[in-house]
Amino acid sequence: MRVVCPGSFDPITYGHLDIIERASEQFDEVVVAVLVNRTKGSLFTVDERMAMIGETLKGISNVRVDSWSGLLIDYCKERDIRAIVKGLRAVSDFDYELQMAQMNRQLSGIETHFMATRPEYSFLSSSLVKELATYGGDVSTYVPEAVHVALLERMSGGTR
Ligand code: PNS
Repeated sequence: MRVVCPGSFDPITYGHLDIIERASEQFDEVVVAVLVNRTKGSLFTVDERMAMIGETLKGISNVRVDSWSGLLIDYCKERDIRAIVKGLRAVSDFDYELQMAQMNRQLSGIETHFMATRPEYSFLSSSLVKELATYGGDVSTYVPEAVHVALLERMSGGTR
């Protein structure tokens, strides 16, 4: 079965990576879809985010990277994807994820599979990583090398 791991991935963290890698062992094909969020500003462009994900996941043959601007279920319909895979970190994720899963299923019949995040990543988020990096904190244990380099560059005033 082909599944999608959707997200903003601004930027991808080891928490995302853990879910994507484990999904790639459970399903035939995993599409990592960078969703353009029209209500949220972003640090990295969609192309930059896709490049960092591609670089990080290049060893896994059944994973590919794509992007989409619009509803996730429309993307799934267009690409013949029957299921969504999401990571759940804590109860705080659950309310909104449940709502989205139920609405997506009612609108389209597309199922959502939830995977429990590894406990060591349960507090990790792209937003916290960006905040840490903004104030000069060490993010190297939370993000892949390519992302670490990109964050340092962006924080030191590197251009988009
Ligand atoms: O990494 P994020 O920001 O937590 O990912 C959330 C995302 C992008 C997966 C979610 O907001 C999404 O699916 N957005 C696309 C628009 C859509 O389909 N919204 C859900 C309507 S029920």
